[in-house]
Order: sequence, then structure tokens, then C-alpha cells
Amino acid sequence: MRCLLIASLVAGIVGSVSGHRAPVTARKSLGFGPIHDHAVYKSNPYQIITNGFLPQSSDADPFEVARLFIDDILGPKHVQTSYKIRSDSYTDPSTGITHVYVRQVVHGIEVADGNMNINIKDGRVLSYGSSFFNGQVPSMISLQDNYSLRYPHSEYCQDLTSELESQFSAFVALQNEQVPLGSQSAKEFDEFAGPLTHLHYSNCQFHTLADEMASQRPQAIGEIGDMRPALLQFMVAATPSSDVVTDILSKYDQHLEKMTVSGVNHFVDGEQTYLYIDNVPDAVKPVKAHMAYVQVPTKDGSVELVTAWKFEVEMEDNWYEAAVSAVAPHRIISVVDWASDAPIPSPEEPRKPASYNVYAWGVNDPSDGERTLEKENFDDLASPVGWHTLPFDNDPSYKGVKPSKEFYRNTTTTYGNNVFAQENWEGQNAYLDNYRPEAGDSSVYDFKYKPKESDEPMDVARNHINATVTQLFYTCNMIHDLYYRYGFTELAGNFQQYNFDRGGRDGDAVIANAQDGSGFNNANFMTPPDGTNGRMRMYLWNTANPYRDGDFEAGIVIHEYSHGLSTRLTGGPMNSGCLGWGESGGMGEGWGDFLATTIRSTKNYSDYPMGAWAANRPKGIRNYPYSLDDSINPSTYQTLDKPGYWGVHAIGEVWAEMLWVVSQALIKEHGFSDTLYPPLPLENGTVPSDDFYRPVVGKKPLVPIHGNTLAVQLVINGMKLQPCQPSFFDSRDAIILADEELTGGENFCTLWKAFASRGLGTDSRVAGRTPWGGGIRTNGYATPKKCQ
Ligand SMILES: *[C@@H]1O[C@H](CO)[C@@H](O)[C@H](O)[C@H]1NC(C)=O
Ligand SMILES: *[C@@H]1O[C@H](CO)[C@@H](O)[C@H](O)[C@H]1NC(C)=O
Ligand SMILES: *[C@@H]1O[C@H](CO)[C@@H](O)[C@H](O)[C@H]1NC(C)=O
Ligand SMILES: *[C@@H]1O[C@H](CO)[C@@H](O)[C@H](O)[C@H]1NC(C)=O
Ligand SMILES: *[C@@H]1O[C@H](CO)[C@@H](O)[C@H](O)[C@H]1NC(C)=O
Repeated sequence: MRCLLIASLVAGIVGSVSGHRAPVTARKSLGFGPIHDHAVYKSNPYQIITNGFLPQSSDADPFEVARLFIDDILGPKHVQTSYKIRSDSYTDPSTGITHVYVRQVVHGIEVADGNMNINIKDGRVLSYGSSFFNGQVPSMISLQDNYSLRYPHSEYCQDLTSELESQFSAFVALQNEQVPLGSQSAKEFDEFAGPLTHLHYSNCQFHTLADEMASQRPQAIGEIGDMRPALLQFMVAATPSSDVVTDILSKYDQHLEKMTVSGVNHFVDGEQTYLYIDNVPDAVKPVKAHMAYVQVPTKDGSVELVTAWKFEVEMEDNWYEAAVSAVAPHRIISVVDWASDAPIPSPEEPRKPASYNVYAWGVNDPSDGERTLEKENFDDLASPVGWHTLPFDNDPSYKGVKPSKEFYRNTTTTYGNNVFAQENWEGQNAYLDNYRPEAGDSSVYDFKYKPKESDEPMDVARNHINATVTQLFYTCNMIHDLYYRYGFTELAGNFQQYNFDRGGRDGDAVIANAQDGSGFNNANFMTPPDGTNGRMRMYLWNTANPYRDGDFEAGIVIHEYSHGLSTRLTGGPMNSGCLGWGESGGMGEGWGDFLATTIRSTKNYSDYPMGAWAANRPKGIRNYPYSLDDSINPSTYQTLDKPGYWGVHAIGEVWAEMLWVVSQALIKEHGFSDTLYPPLPLENGTVPSDDFYRPVVGKKPLVPIHGNTLAVQLVINGMKLQPCQPSFFDSRDAIILADEELTGGENFCTLWKAFASRGLGTDSRVAGRTPWGGGIRTNGYATPKKCQ
């Protein structure tokens, strides 16, 4: 499955319960999908063994072990369902764990949300997650679906309406205002209720009109055929423009006629066949479509397979992966916005490292220190050819004739193998020819940064574009190198134009846009699957004069880049649909806050807000600063049930606070390392232990000595172990399993106690989760027996 995630830094209105509005602009973004109550994640090997699956010999081929294991789990159902092992599965040399990603197949058609991730080491299954459909498989592909027969459309729309009404009550209670909604409040409610209002409009109100129009055309209601009406219905929900909706409504048939469909036939058998639909209103590229099954809960609590069109829709500000039921009346079932918001050939002689006048790594923003001259990082593991060199063949901007014999090209701008950084004042998708600072032969990127108050703050900001882009390039490359050393490598799906034949897919450096014209007071990141460029858009903040430039706040850049990290590591490099909504979408936000806060923290403990400098707001843009003190940050698991906590940013804040508490517990136990950056590798490729890693014994993975470095390692290893669409429980369990594998479980009780202190103990519970993030949660403060 190809999918992509846009995650923006701040949610806008929903996140601020205090009554103060965070000064942000919200990009419209939809994200929801069916809750899979039948999905499991088992991280305790004993659970797996007692199910009857015994460890295989320690040198067994992990993929063979995976096949035996899947056959064992599927049991007699195996005759009805098959599967394929995805090509982005990999063995991680930094842990020795093989991550196997599996997609369910029924009647030759993929079950788009039937995922398994199996983690295997030395012939043992360490953990696995599964959301495979385990109900009655339909006898054959039928042109008639039963979905709308079993769940009539009128009933479905009634249910949506009452859900809307209950959200409205929550909204009114939160505002503490009984006044009728004016137009301003209507917009705020729209943001509060998230996708629901759009879904209700598209699936229920628009649908009725479309249905009337459709009845005049030959296609019979209730049959799978033309995907264009389903797509138009999705566009009505997805477009941020009411003009586009009006246009679709008034020229429905013309739009359908103009939308041309073409297919792509693959030479190799077994490849997914995609269709492309051109001239789709508000899409910037032809929409990719294929048919798939999706799992939908029925009224009686079981789950049924529904035939759906899966669309990949690239728009100006979103990149959606959506499933719409194929049979009319169409329903949008799930939406993920990919935007969130070998031998190493090396050049004959290494280039002279470039240098940059920037706020150095660890300085969060201009209020936190001065700019200094910092050097390009030549880390033989993370960036073996540095930050300004990439192969001619992998450079989309190179237009000349490649010099014979030369493999690499050196650049003298902020453009290299990991990051393409440039201004994007126009706010469009083009980036190749956008302006970048030029260092020439000096390789010194030293530009002035002295913005002053002015009547033309925009001009002032633009006059400092050289310094801004330099900073963005430097910060993004440092993040790339740091995460690489903690295991976000080529195999794991990292962002590089060229992968040095070390696995994964080439061609996906991060496109980092400074002063992006598509917004103010925010930032976002789009994560398509491995092999397609990630896109970061940093905005100016008009919260002060001179404007504050988000590119200078490292925490914001780190938060954004971390969407790429968590999306590529969760569920495998080629599945960008695992952190789309609810708890998993929230944790997608939380990891970024946690990592940004950990990177800026020092030996002297301090609480930290997020985005305080850019937003010009000492409290920052979240509800609370991150703090060990629960009178300063009271977030617990149950906080997720509070009104205003259904959006991913508020959920993420709770997760980040838990990780902060966990990391402080590890620091108390193991001390603090002044640098998070591991020692540079020696010429022979080995990493010295120094005072950073424990001395290496045999082929064991490197174990960080200190609490803060260990916390980062466990959090990143946990992302690789957790299932697609993880819950808080799953991600907690994955971190505990990561510790089991890395240290033999030394921190088992430290981790459990820290999670339990914020209500995520062994007895915490959730019931009645909704696709919008709701549910009834119970804090649990208990820890396993051996920790009491
Ligand atoms: C529809 O329901 C009938 C009767 O319950 C069943 O035999 C058939 O397989 C179902 N079709 C699909 C596509 O689920
Ligand atoms: C890039 O720089 C290296 C080191 O200075 C040099 O050996 C190499 O020839 C350069 N590549 C090109 C294409 O100029
Ligand atoms: C950026 O740097 C270049 C080269 O030093 C300089 O010519 C240009 O004027 C600078 N741009 C701005 C907006 O200061
Ligand atoms: C930590 O606090 C001590 C004592 O107050 C001070 O001397 C030191 O400079 C501080 N270190 C950092 C990194 O802030
Ligand atoms: C790499 O070099 C270091 C220092 O010279 C040495 O101690 C180590 O044994 C070497 N490792 C290998 C695998 O050759």
C-alpha cells in the first residue's frame, strides 16, 4: 500500500482549553477510520509460546519462521485467506531483529487494513501485531455488496447526526456559552468536530443530491463499477474550498465526464494494478486508485469485509489516502492525511567540510543562545559523503551532461543527499528552482541575522532568507544524522536521495521549505512511503514584530521531522497509513514533542514548553509545559477523555508527557549524557564505546549508558516493534519489549512504574473507542507483581 501522512504542528483551537487561543492557522485535514477491536498486539514471548508456537532453531531464516508463524495463527482459516510478505520487511543490524510486514489477501484482493507485523530474532517471535480480518470471508467477489443492506443509509446518517449533536453539546459546554452560534463560532465548531462535519455533509447531504443525479445515468445503484462518483464524493469532503463544492454540485455531470480513467499494467505478475483518474477537481496530480477490501464494524459488533475504492489524492495542502465504499450509496470509510502536518563508495578525497553560522544543535531558539560557526558533520555511518554531495543520477535538479567517470556531484548550496532546503514564498509544490543561499568555493554559509522592527515585517523576514535557509538545512541534517545513529537507517526507511546500497529505497531526501507561503504560525510535514520525498513546510509567525521565523526554533523543526521518523518506523517503511487518527495519530504528534524537548534538555533539570519563542508565548502552544511535577502538567491517560482532547495534538501532549516522565525515571537511574550524539565511527567502521555505550561484547547491539540516550534509543526501537495503528498500550508494551531486547529487561520496573504514575499501569482500560478519538478510559496505577 502506498500512503502518506500531513501532520501540522498545532491543532488550532481544540488544543487550548484555557480560553486563550494559540495564534495558529489551521490547515484543513481529515483523519478517521474504523476501530479494530479485534486487532491484537502481543509483546510477551510467553503468550506466543503458550499459544503453541515454539521457537525455531536460532539460525532459522526469519522469513521462514514468519511463514510458519502466520500459518499457525491463521489455522484452519488459511484456506480462505492468503497473505503476502511486503518487500519493505527488513533485518535491522543495530538490534538483530527482523521486522516482517504482512498484508492479508482475500480472493486475490488486498485487505487494505489487514496488517501483521512480526518481530523475530534468533528463531523466536518476540512480538507481533495483527489486524487481519478473522470473520466469514464472502464467497466470491460480488458486484453486490451487503454493507448498505445490513446498515441502511438512513440509519447510518442518523447515527452520524447524533454523533454530531453530542459533539456539539461538548463544544458548547467547553465554550461555556449558550448563545446561538454565529459564523465565527460555526467555523470553530467545524474545527472542534474535526472530520465529522465534512463526513456528514459528504456522505449524507451531498450524497442525496448526487444520488438524484446518478439515477439519471445508466449505472445502477448498488453495483460496483465506475469509481468516479465515489471519488467526487470524497473530494466534496476533502476540499477546503466551498467554491469547489458549489462547482461540483452545479456541474456534477460535466465533472464526471471530464474525469478520465487510465490504467497501468505491470509487466511483473502480482503487482497491484492501479488506475489513474485525471481532471479531479482540487487534486494537483492524477488520482491513483485501486480496489481493496476494508474491514468495517457492523451494528451487531462483528466485522465485515466491504469492497472499497482506495484513492491516493495529492492536493495543495494534503496528501490523502482514502477508502470509499465501492457500491452506491458510497461512504467514506477511512481517511489518512499523509501530511501531519554495501560498500560505501566515497569520493577520492573528502571535501573540506562546510561551515554554517547557526544556532548550534541544542540551542532551541534565539532566546536560548547566540549563533556560532558550526561544521558540517561527516559521520561515516550517517552521512558518509557529507551534506553537500549526492550522485548525479539521484539529483533531480541536475540538468547538464554528467562528467564521465564522476559518480558524485558537490553542491555549493543548501542542497545535498539528505535535505533540499530553500525558500518557498509562493507556497506552491515546486521547489527545484527556488532560491537557496550560495557559499561558492569558500563552503562558508555565514549570513547576517539581525531582524529589526519595521512596518514591513515580511520584507524584513525575506531579507534574512540566507540565514534562515542555512539554519533549516543545518538543523534538518543534524536530525537526519542523529536519528540515523539511533537506527533510522536506509533499511528502516530514512530520507536520502541515495542509500549507498545499504537497503531501503533511494530518492527521498526531505524537501525543506523555509518561510513557506502556504501559511502562518504553524509548520507541517508530509510523509509518503519510502522512496518518495518527504516535505517539510516551515512558516513565519506573525506573533511579534519583527516576525519570528519557525526555521530558527529547532524544537519545531525536530517535531516536524519526527513525523517522518515515526511514520516510516511504524508498520514498515512502505506503509504511511499507521498513525492517521485517534491515539496513534496523537502519539505521532507526541513523539516529536518528546524528542524536541529531550534534545534541548540539559543536566540541570527544567520544565519546557513547546513553541514558546515562535508563538511569543511563554507557556508555549500546548496546554501545559512538559514537567515532572503533576501540579504543573497533570496529564494522565484518562485526560484523553476530556472535551477538547479528541484532536491529535492534545492526545500527543499526553503521550509526550508520559515519555518525559519515563525518560526522567531512566535519567534518575542511569545519569545524564551531555550529548545525545553517539561517538563518530572509527576508520574501520567500528563505533568506540567511550563514555557513551557499554563496552561491546560479541555481536550485541550497542547499549547507551545514560538515561537520556537510553530513553531515545528505547523510544525509537519501540516504534519499530509496535503494530500499525498502535494504541497507548501497544506503544508502552513495545518500549518495554525494546528494553527487554536491548538490556535484558533491566529497566522493566522503572518503565512500568513511570508509565503507571501517569495512569498507564497494567490495570488501565479503555472501552468504546470511536473513530474520532473518543472512548471511556480508566487510569490504572498498578505495576506487574515483580515490581511491587
Ligand atoms: C451477502 O450476504 C449473503 C447472505 O448473507 C452472503 O451469502 C454473501 O456472501 C454476502 N456477500 C458479500 C459480498 O459479502
Ligand atoms: C567533489 O569533491 C571531491 C573532493 O574535493 C572531489 O574529489 C570530486 O572530484 C568532486 N566532484 C566533482 C564532480 O567535482
Ligand atoms: C544572500 O546572499 C547572497 C550571496 O552572499 C547575496 O548576494 C544576497 O544579497 C543575499 N540575499 C539577501 C536577501 O540578503
Ligand atoms: C547547571 O547548574 C550549575 C549550578 O547552578 C551551573 O554551574 C551550570 O552551569 C549549569 N549547567 C548547565 C548546562 O546549565
Ligand atoms: C578498529 O580500530 C580500533 C582502533 O584502532 C581497534 O581497537 C578495533 O579492534 C578495530 N576493529 C576492527 C573490527 O578491526
